[in-house]
Amino acid sequence: MKKKINVAVVFGGESPEHNVSLESGRAICREINPKLYKLFCIYISRSGEWFLVDSEKFINKKAVSARADVLPYPPKKCFVVCQRADKKILPLKIDVVFPIVHGTTGEDGVLQGVFELLDIPYVGSGVAASSCAINKVMTKFIAQKENIPCLEHISFSKSDLLVNRPKLELDFPLFVKPVSLGSSVGVTKVKKQSCLKKAINSAFKHDDNIMIEKGIERAREIVCGVFCDGKKPQTSVCGEVKPLKHDFFDYDAKYLDSKGFDLILPAKISKKNSEKMRSMSIGVFRALNCSGFARVDFLMDPCDEDKFYFCEINTIPGFTSHSLYPSLWEFSGIKIKALIDRLIKTALKKPTKQGIRRL
Ligand SMILES: Nc1ncnc2c1ncn2[C@@H]1O[C@H](COP(=O)(O)OP(=O)(O)O)[C@@H](O)[C@H]1O
Ligand SMILES: [Mg+2]
Repeated sequence: MKKKINVAVVFGGESPEHNVSLESGRAICREINPKLYKLFCIYISRSGEWFLVDSEKFINKKAVSARADVLPYPPKKCFVVCQRADKKILPLKIDVVFPIVHGTTGEDGVLQGVFELLDIPYVGSGVAASSCAINKVMTKFIAQKENIPCLEHISFSKSDLLVNRPKLELDFPLFVKPVSLGSSVGVTKVKKQSCLKKAINSAFKHDDNIMIEKGIERAREIVCGVFCDGKKPQTSVCGEVKPLKHDFFDYDAKYLDSKGFDLILPAKISKKNSEKMRSMSIGVFRALNCSGFARVDFLMDPCDEDKFYFCEINTIPGFTSHSLYPSLWEFSGIKIKALIDRLIKTALKKPTKQGIRRL
């Protein structure tokens, strides 16, 4: 019998998207083919401790109460010293990692850097692509270089505010957002001047850099899945996300309200525009040098479907069975189980930077 591949699914993490990551992690662990892979579930707590948790219990239980062994990953601000006389630290041999930690320190290249150092291949984008893709200002800059339309914005840091106040020449509504986060955390739609300050303060709670973007009233939101096995990136059909009873696709609509949104598959847009958005999705994916998978989101004028704009790229998109990315691919003919298998196989083919150096 062929030896099973040791795969570690890493979930949780220190960002406000912790709970979303638990759900994504659970869905992946549930769907991983046990005939091919030996599963290790690794939970990163909100404070950054790593735990090897019992897979069965994690898959079947809601909470990660079943914490087992603590991984001797260095505690904050420390190195781990293994004293020669004490051989208690046991290595856990991992062939490949599936990191599904959304947001800061998970999706932004930090976690990917750990796997690079450990020389363990991992699913998804590398360090540079991840850290660039999480930054909405950087990605818009790169998208514009690729002639992909973007909405006007200004961005600034807390210290910029002390030096010179940025000039705002955009009409309401505006969207105020942290530059590097996700799941709509810290995002506010601002309809009038008197609400702007509160929105800015709220975004600054999550990031030192924030942006104010020209808003589209009742924007249509078109999403596209990208998958790449190392050759030519492929796209799923485009879908349309319709927030229900919510002014925009906020955190509540995404995760708390079970009837918060509808995903319309395929999006009811012209073939021409769908093709354009699929090709733009590949354009951004390639320009950022992403790997494995990503979801690219666009905002569309509800009165004119020829006016659409790149919004953002998610290099670790939500991965529950009802999340957008797996749903887009299921509709395009690839089920979540097969998708996970293909992503892991792709990761195994791509050596880490350490691996490349050694060759
Ligand atoms: N410029 C905009 N015009 C209209 N709606 C927007 C705009 N920017 C963001 N939104 C709304 O806010 C949501 C979250 O913004 P987004 O930029 O996607 O950040 P996140 O990374 O947190 O998902 C979007 O899905 C959309 O509903
Ligand atoms: Mg978004």
